[in-house]
Amino acid sequence: MAKIAVLGFGTVGGGVARVLEENREAIAARLGEEVSLKRILVRRFRESPWRDRMTDRIQDITEDPEVSVAVEVIGGVDAALDYTRRCLMAGKHVVTANKQLVAEHGRELLELAEEHGVRYLFEASVGGGIPLLHPLVNCLGANRIEEVYGILNGTTNYILTQMTEQGESFRDALRAAQEKGYAEADPTADVEGIDAGRKTCILADLAFGQETPPAEVPMEGITRLDLRDVAIARAAGYRVKLLGRTLRLPEGGYAAYVAPHLIPEGKPIAHVSGVFNAAVIRGSAVGETLFCGPGAGACPTASACVADVMDCLAGPARFRFRWGKAGGLRDAREVVSRWYLRTGAGASAVLAAFPEAEVLLEEGGCAFLTGPLSGYAAETAAKTLPVLARLRVLD
Ligand code: NAP
Ligand code: HSE
Repeated sequence: MAKIAVLGFGTVGGGVARVLEENREAIAARLGEEVSLKRILVRRFRESPWRDRMTDRIQDITEDPEVSVAVEVIGGVDAALDYTRRCLMAGKHVVTANKQLVAEHGRELLELAEEHGVRYLFEASVGGGIPLLHPLVNCLGANRIEEVYGILNGTTNYILTQMTEQGESFRDALRAAQEKGYAEADPTADVEGIDAGRKTCILADLAFGQETPPAEVPMEGITRLDLRDVAIARAAGYRVKLLGRTLRLPEGGYAAYVAPHLIPEGKPIAHVSGVFNAAVIRGSAVGETLFCGPGAGACPTASACVADVMDCLAGPARFRFRWGKAGGLRDAREVVSRWYLRTGAGASAVLAAFPEAEVLLEEGGCAFLTGPLSGYAAETAAKTLPVLARLRVLD
């Protein structure tokens, strides 16, 4: 029987315990041995059916020769980084859902794991329960990856859905997302695009093989989004979604950013709603592939964590999860796209500045789509008109 430990016993930690318990037989049948949760690291003891397995000493895990895998679901960097290093150095595999830690320290931790002959896996860190990172590295390993984009934050997709479909307020929808266990401890990371940004960095790390520092990636969330623009876009055949996107640039290098986008209704990803996430991976051989499923929540996230535990226990990796130092990241304003602009100016002023403009609405100003423009050109053009809203279009 394999024995594992969970570090942090909140939403996802509890989900891991539950999935191990409820799916004990299926897991054993697939793996060829049972998996038992021997230790749970907490910082505060509380009444629980798991009370007898709880400890507040990391040494009870690092020094236990029976524990072969630790699942880090504390979140954040400080304690999580310290404990992850200590587990890896003690020869334990580490599995995590902690995107902040992977985005900021993944390269170092992968190297440390390799040095100690163990694995560091983080499927749950991007897309919750959706298999995304293993398909990117393993199943699509024969491709040169050209682009990955997606709805990568369950909380904001849930909030946008509740606001636009149910007429709920931002505050009520956020509170519901917190109650359902979707949101980060500090939900600013969700609503300001930072959580989606960390996930975009991890996707870029794996897709392009270079460290993508979160501090160098522009991240815009949904707090400045005006529902008027969502309604105008919808009437014109577009849905507005918060996307994380990373892509190769024609001039070399790659870009990464997070921002709300107009997506044509014809694309399946435009209809992904609620807590669901979806990601498109575009590879040189396969073309476009779409992955979709629950992007947050205790059991979906635990599903990915426990699968990583099983992967560690099953034997050596088939392909290496790793990336090198930073180098090829370019300014996201180099990415060319159409833009949605809303201005206080009338259609004649708009058409004088943008002869290719497609006017969507003329009413106390004008909402229109531009032709393809780089972010720099869109910024410059926006200075010629009083621009009230500016969103990229995903074509
Ligand atoms: P959570 O509910 O806040 O759970 C974190 C747990 O870690 C809490 O119980 C906390 O204890 C405990 N903890 C904090 N510091 C600790 C320490 N030094 N030692 C031991 N335990 C400590 O968070 P969560 O939602 O489970 O998220 C965990 C991680 O998974 C985060 O990185 C998150 O981004 C990621 N994730 C979450 C989801 C999701 O749907 N929730 C999905 C994918 C990924 P206290 O109770 O004492 O605060
Ligand atoms: N807070 C995150 C989200 C959890 O809402 O997507 C899953 O990573």
